[in-house]
Amino acid sequence: MNLKETLNSRYTTKEYDASKKISDTDMAEVKNLLRMSPSSVNLQPWHFIVAETTEGKARMAKGTQGFFHFNEPKVTNAAAVVLFCVKTDADDTYYQHIADTEDKAGRFPNEDIKNGFLGAVKAFAGIHKYDLKDLQHWMEKQVYLNIGSFLLGVASLGLDATPMEGIDVKALDEEFGLREKGFTSLVAVSLGYHAESDFNATDKTPKSRLPESEIFTQI
Ligand SMILES: Cc1cc2nc3c(=O)[nH]c(=O)nc-3n(C[C@H](O)[C@H](O)[C@H](O)COP(=O)(O)O)c2cc1C
Repeated sequence: MNLKETLNSRYTTKEYDASKKISDTDMAEVKNLLRMSPSSVNLQPWHFIVAETTEGKARMAKGTQGFFHFNEPKVTNAAAVVLFCVKTDADDTYYQHIADTEDKAGRFPNEDIKNGFLGAVKAFAGIHKYDLKDLQHWMEKQVYLNIGSFLLGVASLGLDATPMEGIDVKALDEEFGLREKGFTSLVAVSLGYHAESDFNATDKTPKSRLPESEIFTQI
């Protein structure tokens, strides 16, 4: 599939074929997509909980109770579910960890360049932590960027997906002990293969987008 076909055919799956599993090769690609996403100053302020077993998906479904019950079958019948989590704080120890990781990858020809990078990380993060006071919000933006590229990436692998903000983040944070670990849950994305009866499949329900004339200004 070329890019245009991938963009036009991907859609939010509402009903999964529970009998279909994702191959190990594709799951490795899925994890690589999550890991390789860009983020501002390469902060990578994320953690991912990946559920592929019935037990794992049952734990994930604790976030789709009550008000969020409409998303429950999309969790339990999918082949896999990824919970995108974001850091709740970042400090000098973490910035150093990022710089050390870049160092290990061989990105710094000398210590001065490494220190320059570390200074840039601290400066940008500092703007959000102290000036704008939106550090957590800024880190969430980085995670959302990952989600965006993830949705296109999994579609290019031929996988169906459902991004879900309709989850009980408090219940999921408790289930996975996330807050104690310095994270909180943000969005879940189910993956797998749609059921023939999925009403939202593009052969049954057309996609809808605002027209080009409304969203572009050509200069
Ligand atoms: C961040 C985000 C959260 C969403 N949350 C839900 C959700 O909880 N449940 C659901 O069925 N669809 C959810 N959607 C799907 C959107 O409704 C869908 O992406 C939008 O209508 C465009 O349709 P398409 O994805 O089929 O192209 C979400 C999408 C995004 C990007």
